[in-house]
Amino acid sequence: MKRQESVLDRIKETPDERESMMTHDTENTAVYKLREARSVTVITGAGVSAESGIPTFRGPDGTWSNAKIEDVATPEGFQRNPQMVWEWYLRRRNEYAGAQPNPAHDVIAAMEQHYPEFLLVTQNIDTLHTRAGNRKVLEIHGNINQARCLRCDTVFENPHFTLPENSITCPKCHAPARPHILWFGEMYDPAQLEQINHFLAATDVVLVVGTSGVVTTPVYFALYAKQHGAYVIEVNPNVSEVSKDAHCHLRQNAGVALPQLWQAVMAEEQ
Ligand code: OAD
Repeated sequence: MKRQESVLDRIKETPDERESMMTHDTENTAVYKLREARSVTVITGAGVSAESGIPTFRGPDGTWSNAKIEDVATPEGFQRNPQMVWEWYLRRRNEYAGAQPNPAHDVIAAMEQHYPEFLLVTQNIDTLHTRAGNRKVLEIHGNINQARCLRCDTVFENPHFTLPENSITCPKCHAPARPHILWFGEMYDPAQLEQINHFLAATDVVLVVGTSGVVTTPVYFALYAKQHGAYVIEVNPNVSEVSKDAHCHLRQNAGVALPQLWQAVMAEEQ
């Protein structure tokens, strides 16, 4: 498993339709696997928040069609124009603050309550999972509400929703800070990867929800868990880089598919 590649290394073309290569278990099998499971891992991407009104990254109206990655999501872009980058993230912070968790987030929060062993790995920085009630969550791409000191690396809750005149500074050492976001070309937190790896090796079911897998981290996670015996369910209205490794595909919006699936799991249990 390639754990420490930079995110930039991982950009690939979105796959063609590859449905013919996939296995097609029915939703009944997914329900059975979730009913029997003791340990469940959920991996999410931007699609889980789409029904909360937050745009995904790719596609005609995606975030990356309105902003240049090299300007707003690289360390070099921040060095060139920290004020512009901060303003971009603070605009997004305000948008996210106005969004609400949707039924997909609610089901994932209910899963955490239900399973003795549970881990949520999210690529999203919008904090909707924690607002829905998840606590066992690793935000592998950072958190829109946090900033990080450029000198001493302290991570802190950013008190600002608009950019102050002296920019945003560290509460400890007063040096300038940056958004606590994983940018392209940067490494994942090795401690987080180790924790995820450890959990995936023993998990029973992995649900991969609303990610294209163009940034391929979720693809590696799903494959690694599958190789260790996990059952992999994809929830995505479209084919993704994860699809070929999933046992079962729920080709609907997450806000529809997850409540239906969860209702069936709970009904089976009675
Ligand atoms: P993408 O925009 O690449 O993919 C979003 C996925 O969500 C697509 O596969 C859609 O088909 C799917 N989708 C759309 N609406 C959905 C819905 N209602 N329910 C379920 N799925 C839906 O977003 P990510 O895969 O999350 O990283 O992108 C990964 C990373 O690339 C992001 O975290 C971000 C970005 O660059 C950084 O900024 C570091």
